[in-house]
Amino acid sequence: DRKIKIAPSILSADFANFGAEIRAIEAEGADWVHVDVMDGHFVPNLTFGPMAVKAFRPYVKTVMDVHLMIAPVDPYIDAYADAGADVLTAHIEAGPHIHRTLQAIRGAGMKAGVALNPGTPAESVAHLLDLTDLICVMTVNPGFGGQKFIDMTAKIARLRQMIGDRPVHIEIDGGVDPKTAPLVAQAGADVLVAGSAVFRGGSVDNPGVYGQNIAEI
Ligand code: DX5
Ligand code: ZN
Repeated sequence: DRKIKIAPSILSADFANFGAEIRAIEAEGADWVHVDVMDGHFVPNLTFGPMAVKAFRPYVKTVMDVHLMIAPVDPYIDAYADAGADVLTAHIEAGPHIHRTLQAIRGAGMKAGVALNPGTPAESVAHLLDLTDLICVMTVNPGFGGQKFIDMTAKIARLRQMIGDRPVHIEIDGGVDPKTAPLVAQAGADVLVAGSAVFRGGSVDNPGVYGQNIAEI
């Protein structure tokens, strides 16, 4: 029986108050903190870069899980290592050399993640399984919080089978809520990212709602 981790995405937090938001979700039971980096090029939205991520670092007592939705990735790997990312995830669709990118992420001292858009098959990571610590299965088209869940349970199950006994996490990102979480966990996921489902209804002044939302996922 696999222990499921909840990784709230601060994409749904108050952008003027990240430090307090991170403290609040960790106090309310977050296992990891998921940080969505968007460049307005790989995805049609912009969030923040390595300077902001470095400013988050002192607040994160658990695991800082940085999801890069940027292209190219390689020129920024050292900046995210310096910012203190624990896990750095790059999209397989972001460039022609994901193998080199994963090697470089590990070489910089971080755990290496690879993310797959909904249209990208499980088999695309067949030759990367020994180079990766985490496979992020997108269950929305990346770019925005609050989108509708796309069912990827067959892909998740296939990946779990391909991974075998390797120590590789399967993370699910997009549309995770109390209805969809059991489906992906059952299929083999062990890290669940959730943005809107964690932050909805709460605030740093009313953080108990975050705790309730996390407990219900
Ligand atoms: C989507 C991001 C997700 C997003 C999830 O591009 O990678 O991490 O914040 O948000 P919800 O849980 O609201 O779908
Ligand atoms: Zn994400």
